[in-house]
Amino acid sequence: MKKLIMTTTLLCSAFALPFATAGDVPHVTKYADGMALAKTDSMPLWENTKLDLQHIADIHLETNDGYREFIEAFGLQQLVDINPDPHVVEINLEAREDYVEMIPGIPSKVYTYNGTVPGPLIRGTVGDTLIVHFTNNLPEPTTIHWHGLRLPADMDGSSMSQNPIPPGESFTYEFELKEASLFWYHPHVRSNEQVEKGLAGALLVSEKKESVDDFIHATEQKILVLDDVLLDEHGQVEAFFNGTMEEILLKKIDGRSGNTLLVNGREMPTLHVKSGVPVRWRMVNIANTRFMRVVVPGHELTRIGGDGGLLEAPIHDGEDVFLVPGQRADIMFVPKGKPGSELIVYWKDSARGRHTIDIMDNGMVMMGDDEMDGNYPDIPLMRLVFEKSHKPAKELMLPEQLRTIEPIDITGAAETTLTFNHSMPMADGTIKFLINGKTFSEVTSDDAPDAQVGEIQVWNLVNMTGGDHPFHLHGFFFQVLETLYKDKEGNVLKVVPAPQLENVDMVNLPSRNGPAGSVSITKIAIDFSPAEGLTGADIEAHGGVAVIEDADLAIGKRGRSGGWQFHCHILEHADTGMMSFVEVFQ
Ligand code: C2O
Ligand code: CU
Repeated sequence: MKKLIMTTTLLCSAFALPFATAGDVPHVTKYADGMALAKTDSMPLWENTKLDLQHIADIHLETNDGYREFIEAFGLQQLVDINPDPHVVEINLEAREDYVEMIPGIPSKVYTYNGTVPGPLIRGTVGDTLIVHFTNNLPEPTTIHWHGLRLPADMDGSSMSQNPIPPGESFTYEFELKEASLFWYHPHVRSNEQVEKGLAGALLVSEKKESVDDFIHATEQKILVLDDVLLDEHGQVEAFFNGTMEEILLKKIDGRSGNTLLVNGREMPTLHVKSGVPVRWRMVNIANTRFMRVVVPGHELTRIGGDGGLLEAPIHDGEDVFLVPGQRADIMFVPKGKPGSELIVYWKDSARGRHTIDIMDNGMVMMGDDEMDGNYPDIPLMRLVFEKSHKPAKELMLPEQLRTIEPIDITGAAETTLTFNHSMPMADGTIKFLINGKTFSEVTSDDAPDAQVGEIQVWNLVNMTGGDHPFHLHGFFFQVLETLYKDKEGNVLKVVPAPQLENVDMVNLPSRNGPAGSVSITKIAIDFSPAEGLTGADIEAHGGVAVIEDADLAIGKRGRSGGWQFHCHILEHADTGMMSFVEVFQ
């Protein structure tokens, strides 16, 4: 058997990291200011950091402008930066099959980055260069897509910008970190299966200290990677689209929901919080399909950021925070509870247009509405244990304004309309998910929308289906203008005005509000400018970079047409066709 459980237990202590290990003993290098880094002789840090979530240390790392943030990885593997330059984060990353314990005591065979699920937390500061030496040791090709980042086209890792990296081969990703936010990384080849099997990790880009409020900056941050996985009775990830024809169709239509909810790769971890001491949770939803409504009962959560970093002003969200697959949230609150008592943070369902499927004896497929949609039972997500604080309890002291966000000026902007639909489900288990009537493998350069570098466009994202689709665009931020609902005759039934101004890379396209023929239309404004410091050539889809060498790849026959992908982030929808691309020209 492979090395299964080399548990390195990090004991909790304020500024040092005492280790207790089985096997190879890691050294802890302590620095004069009390910080510490761990490493072993025989292997890099990541080889033996199957962390015990019950006992996680605070790991205080220094950012390149010399100030310290309090970020607890909470069981996520931390990478060793092999580059001495403080403005360069250089790391080694390997995708390989391995065993991890998502459920304590049960090793599951999964795909990992550096041996863990989720992959290691990658950290940098705005302005740093990130260099990732990536090796694919999976039994199949893969790439890494840097979800949410503005970077040169040839670093995007999508199936439009890079030939999949074959097993045994390496590729170096290198780009500058342009914006501060929590991002994430995952493959863009058969992502429905590769992400489900464990390939995804968080990438935190911190603000420079002068651009963050002192109170927020002084608050300890925790990175929470939310996921679910569909495990069989042996604790193994279920094969791609398993089951009866009805079940297979349903997994394609509703997406694959897991039966095991994970926070930082573990089921029901325990998190210790000090009563009265504010916390900041940076959350990302990496699930294939599951919409995450996370409830902290009895607590008032304040959202201060999302996909594109800080909001303009804090939003009081009540006791829950909502993330569609791919989305991020940055929340703060003050935990309050009797020392020693526990609180269960739980997942709550939200309606997203789930269906039922019946295949009749005559082969007819009947699609209906799932009556339980929105009312599935709550699921416990993690346990908070309150500890006594020796300092007086604090309230959140947030500034009224967190930053300024320029609204994208849409005067004179060209409009593009994109429809999101699916074909009729068939008794043989096939169904196609479509953008403008085509699956991704059918889309050619002629169908793809075009944009000029620097152009501003308004996109009308028309959802013709009875289910929600979380829309994601690679490489550019956008702002949501409004969502309107129309009936079959085209009458406007309802207009949902713009939410608070925010730069995002995800927006949920809500299901239509009525029978076939009615639609929801979400309007977004996109700025196709390169991030500061990038050139038009860097982001041009035909700049000789976003080119697929082998026009006959399974992803389609489109020859030398690259582009920036957009798709539904329900990965079962993306991989059954709901994906397309925009070609950006100089
Ligand atoms: Cu999370 Cu195409 O990406
Ligand atoms: Cu979808």
